[in-house]
Amino acid sequence: MWVSRLALRDFRSYDSLDLELSPGVTSFVAPNGWGKTNLVESIGYLSRLRSHRVSQDLPLVRAGAEQAVVSARAHRGERFVTAEVTIRAKGANRARINRSGVRVREILGLVPCVVFAPEDLGLVKGDPAERRDWLDSLLAARNPRFAGVLADAERALRQRNALLRSLKQNPDPALESTLDIWDRAFAEAAAALVVGRHRLLADLEPHIAGHFSQLAADARESRRSARASYSSRIDYSAVDFRTDTAAERAVEVVVEALAQRRRKEIDRGLTLVGPQRDDVVLSIGDVPAKGYASHGESWSLALALQLAGWDLLREDSGDPHDQPVLVLDDVFAELDSGRRARLAHTVAQAEQVLITSAVGAEVPAELTGSVVDLTAIARPR
Ligand SMILES: Nc1ncnc2c1ncn2[C@@H]1O[C@H](COP(=O)(O)OP(=O)(O)O)[C@@H](O)[C@H]1O
Ligand SMILES: [Mg+2]
Repeated sequence: MWVSRLALRDFRSYDSLDLELSPGVTSFVAPNGWGKTNLVESIGYLSRLRSHRVSQDLPLVRAGAEQAVVSARAHRGERFVTAEVTIRAKGANRARINRSGVRVREILGLVPCVVFAPEDLGLVKGDPAERRDWLDSLLAARNPRFAGVLADAERALRQRNALLRSLKQNPDPALESTLDIWDRAFAEAAAALVVGRHRLLADLEPHIAGHFSQLAADARESRRSARASYSSRIDYSAVDFRTDTAAERAVEVVVEALAQRRRKEIDRGLTLVGPQRDDVVLSIGDVPAKGYASHGESWSLALALQLAGWDLLREDSGDPHDQPVLVLDDVFAELDSGRRARLAHTVAQAEQVLITSAVGAEVPAELTGSVVDLTAIARPR
């Protein structure tokens, strides 16, 4: 897949941008603050309906504007489709496919894209929420059904928390009996999500290990292997996530975990366990990455996670024209020359690669492709 045209209206620093793009490598070069990241962020947003650097949509709308529009024409071989999303400062976002209005979620999967950016370091060094978001956004990109599962899990959690807060203030047995219903609703959504995450992680594991050992080829032997494993305060060891009955089993496990903690949860007025608290534990060699890995190792692991996601999206489609666009936002500056060259070699296989760099010289020669000087087309505000 490749994007032949990108149009932005009031997105971030752009009031209006219309850009023709080619397959292969394009590098956007400009000094800091010229809108390099803004540009690639817009394609990332179209792909995942979320930005790779902010969790809220509002900063994406140009200051003073009411809405931003991102539109891209995505080519798969001879076929092409135009996907457009309108991000509204107030009110729900909107989407169109080939100019016809659709539900926003239907955009997912039309413009697959994997963004590598300095923020990815947070996957290794940051809070569990960053790893959960990464996993969940990949889950929804692979299978848009999970966008619904995620929304259900969030809604069930909010409603259950509201009830727990009321019970904390007003311990009414009649009210408490309604908690059973919310336990089950929450458990069902939570179980569907946890099953999805487990299976995704199982698919990712060999790719993470493979990319990490390749990127870290010149590291000490004990520092060339990486692992990612799911961690939860709920004990899912009784669930075999490979089987068809995994979700049903997981529902029972979650219901039981909630029952055990009921008193404590009412005392706190909060749901204390569930997918909203889970994590992915990353390790290099036998040691957890967080708190132990060096900067370069952490960065290589973050890249390996994103490359693994890229592999899965490519594998899923089974169609040579359906590779995700690869975005490398300011990543080369962070790597030593060996890792730079190995990364360049890996990503050179992609159908379309968009690179941003403040200093063109740090982009490996293999990846230079066509160079766009953003200072010539973007007006900084
Ligand atoms: N919502 C917004 N409205 C207007 N300007 C914005 C908005 N969000 C970011 N910017 C501007 O975009 C610029 C940063 O662009 P960015 O793409 O991150 O630069 P870089 O080229 O260094 O990657 C900053 O000058 C910032 O003020
Ligand atoms: Mg930038």
